[in-house]
Amino acid sequence: MGKELSNKVKSIPASGIREFFELVLGMDDVISLCLGEPNFSTPKVICDSAIKSIENGVTSYTSNWGLMELREEISRYIQKYNKIKYNPTNEILTTVGVSEALDLTFRSILNEGDEVIIPEPCFVSYYPNVEMAGGKVVKMKTTFEDKFKPDPERIKKLINKNTKAILLNFPGNPTGATMTKEIADEIVKIVLENDVYLVSDEVYIPLTYDNMAVSFADYPELKDNLIYLHGFSKAWAMTGWRIGFICAPTRVLENAVKIRQYTTMCVSVMSQIAAVEALKRTDEVVPPMRDDYKERRDLIYNGLKNIGVETFKPEGAFYIFPSIKDFGISSREFCKKFLEKKKVAIIPGTAFGETGEGNVRLSYAASRDVISTSLNRLDEFIKEEF
Ligand SMILES: Cc1ncc(COP(=O)(O)O)c(C=O)c1O
Repeated sequence: MGKELSNKVKSIPASGIREFFELVLGMDDVISLCLGEPNFSTPKVICDSAIKSIENGVTSYTSNWGLMELREEISRYIQKYNKIKYNPTNEILTTVGVSEALDLTFRSILNEGDEVIIPEPCFVSYYPNVEMAGGKVVKMKTTFEDKFKPDPERIKKLINKNTKAILLNFPGNPTGATMTKEIADEIVKIVLENDVYLVSDEVYIPLTYDNMAVSFADYPELKDNLIYLHGFSKAWAMTGWRIGFICAPTRVLENAVKIRQYTTMCVSVMSQIAAVEALKRTDEVVPPMRDDYKERRDLIYNGLKNIGVETFKPEGAFYIFPSIKDFGISSREFCKKFLEKKKVAIIPGTAFGETGEGNVRLSYAASRDVISTSLNRLDEFIKEEF
């Protein structure tokens, strides 16, 4: 039996994605549009730089903040693609993916009961990260009709004296939604007027199509309120390297580094070396992958339209979030039945919050073959069942 475990952790529900994966695990021959992970391997030139450094004996701990060379490269990257100038010495912290960046951020800024406004549907880790840090999640609904864009008026209504931060993620998981410059302008005004933190998870920003990228790192006036999170997993196809970073005011990062000192100490040095190369090679390695995803986006979008499934065209990331409301069953039932009958795994929208009811998430980071076969099977499934 053992002694009682942590109540805080016990109270956090298991991820809806995991629950679904467990169903998949019990079946043979399933094809999957579930994974939020590129089907590309990390570009060879990036791997080579890490291999070379290992062969040269670079295998030690680094500073808790990360290699200075990497922080300088991150600073240059943001200045090249955006506007804010970050000091590599004390305004940039390398992290074990955006996952650790989220954890460090909320543990660094939240006191018990502080509120964080989060648009829903959203990435599965957001609520648990805020709650484990003692914060209170304030959900902000976004809708299929608005293409899941955040509504500044709704944010205004939710802000009060307990609001510590707003957490945004555009382009977003699970919807592929982006923001407009007008919406971002409004949000910046709200953040500054209320002096709250804006935590912007921009892990998908280089995977925005048709020059639609809107980044909060383009607003220098926001610098003292912005906690900018980014990472290499998606755009550079580096999920397994576990590396990302936070750019934020020094006071925030000093807290984060304190946690870091007593927990993970630093990101693996090999991954940091690879990340330096990744940033230097951005223009060479990211656009070909982005263009490929864009073609797959068109393939899946047109395919869904042809089948008669209502959807909107995502402008970034590698997810599409069609509506299955017309079929009169819940998202979970739809995905379960589709899996059982046609052996294709997709994720119920409710895995990303209640607001996801009526939608399902398909990842098109899969191969064209898998996408086409899944679409054919979806067509058959709908014709046979509804
Ligand atoms: C929106 C979002 N943020 C963060 C992450 C975590 O990424 P990382 O591999 O950098 O920890 C993911 C992964 O799916 C994600 O979709």
